[in-house]
Amino acid sequence: MIKILANDGIHPDGKLLLEEADYQVDTEKIAQENLLTALQDYDVIIVRSATKVRKELIDACPNLKIIARGGVGMDNIDVEYARSKGIAVINTPAASSQAVAELALGHIFTLARSLQVSNREMTSATFKNLKSSLSGGIQLQGKTLGIVGFGRIGQAIARMALGMGFRVLPIDPFIAEAEIKIPIFGQKNINFSIRLQTEKLEDVLPKCDFLTVHIPGVDKPVIGKAEIAKMKKTAFIINTARGGAIDEQALLDALNEGRLAGAGLDVFTNEPTPSEALVQHARISVSPHVGAETQEAQINIGTELADQIIAFFGDDK
Ligand code: 3PG
Repeated sequence: MIKILANDGIHPDGKLLLEEADYQVDTEKIAQENLLTALQDYDVIIVRSATKVRKELIDACPNLKIIARGGVGMDNIDVEYARSKGIAVINTPAASSQAVAELALGHIFTLARSLQVSNREMTSATFKNLKSSLSGGIQLQGKTLGIVGFGRIGQAIARMALGMGFRVLPIDPFIAEAEIKIPIFGQKNINFSIRLQTEKLEDVLPKCDFLTVHIPGVDKPVIGKAEIAKMKKTAFIINTARGGAIDEQALLDALNEGRLAGAGLDVFTNEPTPSEALVQHARISVSPHVGAETQEAQINIGTELADQIIAFFGDDK
C-alpha cells in the first residue's frame, strides 16, 4: 500500500479521496528534526510551507516518489534537486488564487478606513476619540492600483478591482498583456472583458495609490528603499506573496518618516516570529500568512493533490 505523510495537513475531502483509492494517509505532524528517519517509510510527502524538504531529507529517503506542495510557493522544497533524483514535485498553482486575491483586497479595504486601528483599540471608552482620530479615510473608487506580478493571483485581483472602479496598472516582465474577463453574478450571457497591458515598475510607482505584490519567492526585495522613494506619500503597499518581496526595514523607515501611508502584510521574512515593530505598527494591517486559508481554497488544494497523486500511481500502486 502506498504510504502518504501529509505533514502540514490536508483537507478531509482530499484525504477521503486518497483513502477511498486505498492509499494510507497519515496526518500526524512529525517535527522537522525527526523527518529524516520517519519519512523513510513513506512514498509521498505532502507539505504546505511549514515543512522544509531540502537536499539532506531527499537523500535520506530513497523510497520517496512524490513531494506534493499543497499550495503555490515551492521555496521550502529543493525542487530541482528532487527532480534530478527522479522524484516528482507537484503543487496546486490555481487552487488558492481567489483566496489570496480577496485577502489582498481585504487589507486594502482595511487600510483605506484604518480598520486595523479600530480593531486593536476600540472600546466604549475610546469610541469618541477614535471617531475623531480615524476620520479622513479614503474611498477606493477611482484610485489607482499597481499590481506587481500579473499571473493568476494578480489577474484575480484585477478582475475584482476593475469591478470596483479602480484604475488597474499591472507590472510583469514576463507577461505583456492579459484578457481579464469580469463575470457578472447570475448573468450568464453578459461577458465583459478588457485587455490590460503591463507597464514598467518605475512608471507605475509614482502613479499608484495602492501597490500589491504577487510574485514567487525572491532572493532580494522587489520593493525596497529606492522604489518606495518613487511612490506617493499617501500610497499603501500590500504583500500577500512572500516575506522579503518588500524590504521590511525600508518599509518601516518610510512609514515612520511619513513617506508612505500604510501597508498590509500577510507574509514576513521571519515567519512564524515576525518583527514586532511590523506586527504592532498602527499603519500596518497584518494577518498571519492566511492567504490560502479559506475553506474553499483548502478543499481545492486537497482534492487537486489527491487527483494528481492517484493519477501518478495509476494501476501501479
Ligand atoms: C502558497 O504559497 O500557497 C501560500 O503562501 C500559502 O502557504 P501555506 O500553505 O503555507 O499557508
